[in-house]
Amino acid sequence: MISFNNITKKFGHHLVLDEVNFEINSGELVVVNGASGTGKSTIVALLMGAEKPTTGTVEVDDLVVNEMDTGTLQLYRRKLGVVYQDYKLLPKKTVFENVAFAMEVCEEPRDEISRRVPEVLDKVGLLNFQDSFPNHLSGGERQRLAIARALVHDPRLLIADEPTGNLDEANVRGIIDLFKRLHSEGATVLLTTHDPMVHNMLPARTLEISGGKIL
Ligand SMILES: Nc1ncnc2c1ncn2[C@@H]1O[C@H](COP(=O)(O)OP(=O)(O)OP(=O)(O)O)[C@@H](O)[C@H]1O
Ligand SMILES: [Mg+2]
Repeated sequence: MISFNNITKKFGHHLVLDEVNFEINSGELVVVNGASGTGKSTIVALLMGAEKPTTGTVEVDDLVVNEMDTGTLQLYRRKLGVVYQDYKLLPKKTVFENVAFAMEVCEEPRDEISRRVPEVLDKVGLLNFQDSFPNHLSGGERQRLAIARALVHDPRLLIADEPTGNLDEANVRGIIDLFKRLHSEGATVLLTTHDPMVHNMLPARTLEISGGKIL
C-alpha cells in the first residue's frame, strides 16, 4: 500500500503540494488528474524517492521511502515499474536493447534476458520492432516501448506519468487497454494525466489535484 502522509513539497518558495494525504491500496487502479504544473510528476518523483518531501512521509508497504539510504532505495526502485513522462529511452540502443538494458543494470543472467525481453515486447505488441531504434518509432510505439521496459521485472506497482501525452485517440485507447489488462493481471497501477479522455476511459478512482491539494 502507498500512503502520502501530510506531504508538503516546496521548490524554493514555490509551494507545489500543500499537506496532501492519500492512500492507494494493493491492486487498485488510480488516476491522478490535474492541469499542467499542479504537481503530478512531483508525486511520481516523491514515490520514486527521487525528490524528498519538505515535510511529511511517503510510505510504501510500511517502508518510509524518504528515509531510505541509497542501497535500500535502489532495491526498492527495482520493484517498481515506471514509465516517465519523457520516456527516457536510449536513442543509440535498439528496441530490444532498451529493454535488455534495464535487466543488465540489475545484473540479470544473459539467458534470462534473452527469454524475458521478447516476452514483454510481445505483451505491448512490439515484437516485430526489436531491431528498430527509438527515433524510427511512432509516438505510440515509443510509449509502448517505455511500458515494456517498465514491465521487465514484473512489478507489483506500475507508475505511469502522463502515459498518453501526445497520442491520438486510437493510440490513447490502445495504451489504456494495456494498463487495464496489466491491472487485471494483478498489478497496482497509478497513472497521471491532464487528459479528461483518459480518465473517462478508465474505471479508476481519481485523485483530483489542484492548488496543491487533493480535492
Ligand atoms: N526540480 C524542480 N525545481 C524547481 N521547480 C520544480 C521542479 N520540479 C517541478 N517544479 C515545479 O513544480 C511544479 C509542479 O511540477 P510537475 O512537474 O510536478 O507538474 P505536472 O503536474 O507534472 O505538470 P505537467 O502536466 O505539465 O507534466 C511546476 O510549477 C514546476 O515548475
Ligand atoms: Mg508532469
